[in-house]
Amino acid sequence: MEKITTRSSTVFKSWHITSAVRSRPYAYHFSVEDFTQSEPDLWFPRALSPALAHDSAKQLSKKDLLVLHAYHLIHFMDYTTRLEMGHINETVQCIISGDLKHFFDKDEQLNALKLYTDEAYHALFSKEIAAPVANHFCLERINSARINSLDQLLQNSPQSLNGITRFCIAFVSETIITNELYNLIRDSLVTPVANMLIDHLHDEGRHAIFSQTVSHNSGISYQSLRRII
Ligand SMILES: [Fe+2]
Ligand SMILES: [Fe+2]
Repeated sequence: MEKITTRSSTVFKSWHITSAVRSRPYAYHFSVEDFTQSEPDLWFPRALSPALAHDSAKQLSKKDLLVLHAYHLIHFMDYTTRLEMGHINETVQCIISGDLKHFFDKDEQLNALKLYTDEAYHALFSKEIAAPVANHFCLERINSARINSLDQLLQNSPQSLNGITRFCIAFVSETIITNELYNLIRDSLVTPVANMLIDHLHDEGRHAIFSQTVSHNSGISYQSLRRII
Protein backbone atom coordinates (compact mmCIF):
# COMPACT_ATOMS: atom_id res chain seq x y z
CA MET A 1 0.00 0.00 0.00
CA GLU A 2 1.41 3.38 -0.98
CA LYS A 3 2.01 5.57 2.03
CA ILE A 4 0.86 9.15 2.28
CA THR A 5 3.56 9.98 4.80
CA THR A 6 4.14 13.48 3.47
CA ARG A 7 0.90 14.83 4.86
CA SER A 8 1.18 12.88 8.11
CA SER A 9 4.70 14.17 8.80
CA THR A 10 4.03 17.68 7.57
CA VAL A 11 1.35 18.35 10.18
CA PHE A 12 3.84 17.65 12.99
CA LYS A 13 6.88 19.24 11.35
CA SER A 14 6.58 22.51 13.28
CA TRP A 15 5.05 20.91 16.39
CA HIS A 16 7.90 22.19 18.61
CA ILE A 17 6.87 25.80 17.96
CA THR A 18 3.19 25.60 17.04
CA SER A 19 1.55 23.08 19.41
CA ALA A 20 -0.59 24.61 22.17
CA VAL A 21 1.77 23.43 24.90
CA ARG A 22 4.72 25.16 23.19
CA SER A 23 3.10 28.27 21.76
CA ARG A 24 -0.01 29.30 23.71
CA PRO A 25 -0.05 31.31 26.95
CA TYR A 26 -1.50 29.45 29.91
CA ALA A 27 -4.67 31.56 30.06
CA TYR A 28 -7.09 29.21 31.75
CA HIS A 29 -7.39 30.72 35.23
CA PHE A 30 -10.71 32.27 36.31
CA SER A 31 -10.76 35.80 37.65
CA VAL A 32 -13.27 37.03 40.22
CA GLU A 33 -14.98 38.87 37.36
CA ASP A 34 -15.30 35.68 35.31
CA PHE A 35 -17.40 34.18 38.08
CA THR A 36 -19.75 37.15 37.99
CA GLN A 37 -20.85 36.10 34.48
CA SER A 38 -24.47 35.08 35.02
CA GLU A 39 -25.59 34.40 31.46
CA PRO A 40 -25.95 30.57 31.33
CA ASP A 41 -24.94 30.29 27.67
CA LEU A 42 -21.59 31.88 28.46
CA TRP A 43 -20.73 28.70 30.40
CA PHE A 44 -22.03 26.14 27.89
CA PRO A 45 -24.17 26.85 24.78
CA ARG A 46 -27.68 25.38 25.07
CA ALA A 47 -27.67 24.56 21.34
CA LEU A 48 -25.13 21.81 22.04
CA SER A 49 -27.15 19.90 24.59
CA PRO A 50 -30.64 18.40 24.12
CA ALA A 51 -31.11 18.62 27.91
CA LEU A 52 -30.37 22.36 28.00
CA ALA A 53 -32.57 23.00 24.97
CA HIS A 54 -35.45 20.90 26.37
CA ASP A 55 -38.75 22.62 27.18
CA SER A 56 -38.45 21.67 30.86
CA ALA A 57 -35.24 23.70 31.12
CA LYS A 58 -37.23 26.79 30.18
CA GLN A 59 -39.18 26.45 33.46
CA LEU A 60 -36.02 26.83 35.54
CA SER A 61 -34.99 30.05 37.22
CA LYS A 62 -32.01 31.80 35.69
CA LYS A 63 -29.97 30.86 38.75
CA ASP A 64 -30.76 27.15 38.36
CA LEU A 65 -30.19 27.37 34.63
CA LEU A 66 -26.77 28.88 35.26
CA VAL A 67 -25.84 25.96 37.52
CA LEU A 68 -27.11 23.47 34.91
CA HIS A 69 -24.98 25.04 32.17
CA ALA A 70 -21.92 25.08 34.44
CA TYR A 71 -22.59 21.44 35.21
CA HIS A 72 -22.53 20.61 31.49
CA LEU A 73 -19.20 22.36 31.19
CA ILE A 74 -17.53 20.37 33.97
CA HIS A 75 -19.06 17.16 32.68
CA PHE A 76 -17.54 17.83 29.26
CA MET A 77 -14.20 18.73 30.85
CA ASP A 78 -14.16 15.55 32.97
CA TYR A 79 -15.11 13.51 29.89
CA THR A 80 -12.23 15.13 27.99
CA THR A 81 -9.70 14.39 30.72
CA ARG A 82 -10.67 10.73 30.93
CA LEU A 83 -10.82 10.36 27.14
CA GLU A 84 -7.34 11.84 26.63
CA MET A 85 -5.65 9.88 29.40
CA GLY A 86 -7.69 6.69 29.38
CA HIS A 87 -8.33 6.07 25.71
CA ILE A 88 -6.32 8.27 23.34
CA ASN A 89 -3.00 8.00 25.15
CA GLU A 90 -3.48 4.31 25.96
CA THR A 91 -3.85 3.81 22.19
CA VAL A 92 -0.65 5.76 21.57
CA GLN A 93 1.13 3.46 24.00
CA CYS A 94 -0.06 0.50 21.90
CA ILE A 95 1.29 2.27 18.80
CA ILE A 96 4.69 2.91 20.39
CA SER A 97 5.31 -0.29 22.30
CA GLY A 98 2.23 -2.50 22.28
CA ASP A 99 0.09 -4.65 19.98
CA LEU A 100 -0.07 -2.01 17.24
CA LYS A 101 3.63 -1.13 16.92
CA HIS A 102 4.22 -3.29 13.81
CA PHE A 103 1.55 -1.27 11.92
CA PHE A 104 3.50 2.01 12.26
CA ASP A 105 6.93 3.15 11.13
CA LYS A 106 9.37 5.11 13.30
CA ASP A 107 8.30 8.54 12.05
CA GLU A 108 4.65 7.78 12.75
CA GLN A 109 5.56 6.56 16.23
CA LEU A 110 7.48 9.78 16.96
CA ASN A 111 4.55 11.86 15.71
CA ALA A 112 2.22 9.76 17.88
CA LEU A 113 4.37 10.73 20.88
CA LYS A 114 3.88 14.41 20.01
CA LEU A 115 0.13 13.75 19.92
CA TYR A 116 0.52 12.02 23.32
CA THR A 117 2.14 15.18 24.71
CA ASP A 118 -0.68 17.33 23.32
CA GLU A 119 -3.33 15.09 24.86
CA ALA A 120 -1.66 15.16 28.27
CA TYR A 121 -1.72 18.97 28.07
CA HIS A 122 -5.41 18.89 27.09
CA ALA A 123 -6.14 16.66 30.07
CA LEU A 124 -4.27 19.11 32.30
CA PHE A 125 -6.13 22.24 31.22
CA SER A 126 -9.49 20.44 31.13
CA LYS A 127 -8.97 19.35 34.72
CA GLU A 128 -7.82 22.83 35.72
CA ILE A 129 -10.92 24.40 34.17
CA ALA A 130 -13.31 21.89 35.79
CA ALA A 131 -12.05 22.13 39.38
CA PRO A 132 -12.73 25.83 40.15
CA VAL A 133 -16.07 25.77 38.30
CA ALA A 134 -17.24 22.71 40.24
CA ASN A 135 -16.03 24.33 43.44
CA HIS A 136 -17.69 27.69 42.73
CA PHE A 137 -21.08 26.18 41.82
CA CYS A 138 -20.82 23.33 44.41
CA LEU A 139 -21.25 20.67 41.72
CA GLU A 140 -20.89 16.94 42.21
CA ARG A 141 -18.61 15.17 39.72
CA ILE A 142 -19.98 12.03 38.09
CA ASN A 143 -18.50 9.66 35.52
CA SER A 144 -19.26 10.29 31.86
CA ALA A 145 -21.72 7.75 30.43
CA ARG A 146 -19.90 7.94 27.09
CA ILE A 147 -16.58 7.01 28.71
CA ASN A 148 -18.24 4.20 30.65
CA SER A 149 -19.61 2.83 27.34
CA LEU A 150 -16.16 2.98 25.74
CA ASP A 151 -14.66 1.19 28.76
CA GLN A 152 -17.35 -1.48 28.43
CA LEU A 153 -16.69 -1.87 24.70
CA LEU A 154 -13.05 -2.49 25.45
CA GLN A 155 -13.82 -4.99 28.21
CA ASN A 156 -16.16 -6.93 25.92
CA SER A 157 -13.73 -7.14 23.01
CA PRO A 158 -11.64 -10.32 22.64
CA GLN A 159 -8.11 -10.01 24.05
CA SER A 160 -6.62 -10.59 20.58
CA LEU A 161 -8.48 -7.53 19.23
CA ASN A 162 -7.67 -5.27 22.16
CA GLY A 163 -5.16 -3.08 20.31
CA ILE A 164 -7.36 -2.71 17.24
CA THR A 165 -10.40 -1.92 19.39
CA ARG A 166 -8.40 0.77 21.17
CA PHE A 167 -7.34 2.21 17.83
CA CYS A 168 -10.93 2.37 16.55
CA ILE A 169 -12.13 4.03 19.76
CA ALA A 170 -9.33 6.60 19.55
CA PHE A 171 -9.87 7.21 15.84
CA VAL A 172 -13.63 7.79 16.23
CA SER A 173 -13.23 9.82 19.44
CA GLU A 174 -10.64 12.11 17.86
CA THR A 175 -13.04 12.81 15.00
CA ILE A 176 -15.99 13.46 17.33
CA ILE A 177 -14.13 15.76 19.73
CA THR A 178 -12.81 17.92 16.90
CA ASN A 179 -16.38 18.53 15.75
CA GLU A 180 -17.61 19.17 19.32
CA LEU A 181 -14.84 21.68 20.02
CA TYR A 182 -15.53 23.45 16.74
CA ASN A 183 -19.22 23.79 17.64
CA LEU A 184 -18.42 25.01 21.15
CA ILE A 185 -16.16 27.88 20.10
CA ARG A 186 -18.75 29.33 17.73
CA ASP A 187 -20.55 30.97 20.67
CA SER A 188 -19.32 33.54 23.18
CA LEU A 189 -18.01 31.93 26.35
CA VAL A 190 -16.38 32.92 29.64
CA THR A 191 -12.79 33.91 28.74
CA PRO A 192 -10.74 31.03 30.27
CA VAL A 193 -13.20 28.49 28.84
CA ALA A 194 -12.98 30.07 25.39
CA ASN A 195 -9.15 30.17 25.60
CA MET A 196 -9.02 26.52 26.55
CA LEU A 197 -11.40 25.34 23.81
CA ILE A 198 -9.64 27.37 21.10
CA ASP A 199 -6.24 26.00 22.14
CA HIS A 200 -7.58 22.47 22.24
CA LEU A 201 -9.10 22.79 18.77
CA HIS A 202 -5.79 24.26 17.53
CA ASP A 203 -4.13 20.88 18.23
CA GLU A 204 -7.05 18.67 17.24
CA GLY A 205 -7.05 19.94 13.65
CA ARG A 206 -3.54 18.46 13.37
CA HIS A 207 -4.57 15.27 15.14
CA ALA A 208 -7.50 14.70 12.78
CA ILE A 209 -5.15 14.74 9.78
CA PHE A 210 -2.69 12.45 11.57
CA SER A 211 -5.44 9.95 12.53
CA GLN A 212 -6.73 9.81 8.98
CA THR A 213 -3.32 9.34 7.42
CA VAL A 214 -2.02 6.70 9.84
CA SER A 215 -5.23 4.69 9.61
CA HIS A 216 -4.90 4.80 5.83
CA ASN A 217 -1.21 3.85 5.97
CA SER A 218 -1.66 1.02 8.43
CA GLY A 219 -4.62 -0.35 6.51
CA ILE A 220 -6.34 -1.27 9.76
CA SER A 221 -9.33 1.02 9.62
CA TYR A 222 -11.89 -0.66 7.38
CA GLN A 223 -10.92 -4.26 7.96
CA SER A 224 -10.68 -3.88 11.70
CA LEU A 225 -13.84 -1.89 12.12
CA ARG A 226 -15.72 -4.57 10.21
CA ARG A 227 -14.37 -7.26 12.52
CA ILE A 228 -15.27 -5.37 15.67
CA ILE A 229 -18.53 -3.59 14.92
FE1 LIG B 1 -7.18 16.50 22.75
FE1 LIG C 1 -6.41 14.69 19.85
